[in-house]
Amino acid sequence: MRITAVAPGRVNLIGEHTDTTGGLVLPLATDLATTVTGIRGGDEVRLTSDDVEGAAVVPIDVEDPATVEPGWARYVAGVVAEVRPGTGFVGTVTTTLPLGAGLSSSAALEVAVALAIGLEGTDLEVAQLAQRAERRASGVPCGILDQLASTSGRAGHALLIDCHELSIQPVELPPDVEVRVVHSGQVRALTDGRYAQRHQALNRAEAELGPLRLVTDTGPLEGLGDPEVRRRARHVITENARVKVVVEALHRGDLGLVGRAMADSHASLRDDFEVSTPLVDALVERLTATEGVHGARLTGAGFGGCVVALTVPGALSEGWKVTASTGAHLVR
Ligand code: GLA
Repeated sequence: MRITAVAPGRVNLIGEHTDTTGGLVLPLATDLATTVTGIRGGDEVRLTSDDVEGAAVVPIDVEDPATVEPGWARYVAGVVAEVRPGTGFVGTVTTTLPLGAGLSSSAALEVAVALAIGLEGTDLEVAQLAQRAERRASGVPCGILDQLASTSGRAGHALLIDCHELSIQPVELPPDVEVRVVHSGQVRALTDGRYAQRHQALNRAEAELGPLRLVTDTGPLEGLGDPEVRRRARHVITENARVKVVVEALHRGDLGLVGRAMADSHASLRDDFEVSTPLVDALVERLTATEGVHGARLTGAGFGGCVVALTVPGALSEGWKVTASTGAHLVR
């Protein structure tokens, strides 16, 4: 019997680099998605794709996913190592997601592979397994944002995720807004340690201040000796507050306020968390100055990648128009 699994990417409207400290994020699952289709059997997971070089050939008893070649096959191997399926799978991967752009193509691949090879579980369980697979495959100590958005998407809604409680509250998007994602042209790599460094700084802040998710004003930051740690923590504290502002503003349809919070988020990512680049800053500035754009900011981990803009429908023609879509599923 042919099995087909579809998993969306995600775009994060706001709440960047807050997930690893149990903070708030507001992603939506995109209509851009990855599909894995094939047949179960054999003792390896064998996937080919027209979009990337080489095949993923992973024995079902794979030991060390991080050493599998080619690079994209590591994510498949990470999932196989976590799921430990009783039989293999032979099939293909297709995607409408831009790869390595900050739209979570790797999370979509992990989730689609997990469902295709037979993982059963709640959205949260599938997301947690895929997160462990990503960490094993890439060595990057990522949070739950990407995988949970991919499994839990809801049409027409963003998802307010509390990354400590692991609770999800759908937030309806106003009908008269468009979400656009525009690539900066700068390709990012998180495996070079910069993501991990940022999150080590947050760990240091938490060692002194306690959980950052519980810190609601920036006063206690004065007590932190290291100015870099202080800046990183200030980003997280102010970003958690901005997520709440945006959720409230979306409820009221106050898109001007949403836009201002997105601008503040970008400034904080640029100046305090230091994950933007001059190219991304220039793109955010240009898009923000375009008529009909409510707000724009870096989305995803940064160091290049994509900008998300919230606009009046049709205000931008560049990039990808994304609509909030349903989460990952098997197609029966
Ligand atoms: C990457 C990680 C996520 C999250 C974002 C930044 O996408 O995989 O867990 O930390 O960066 O918000």
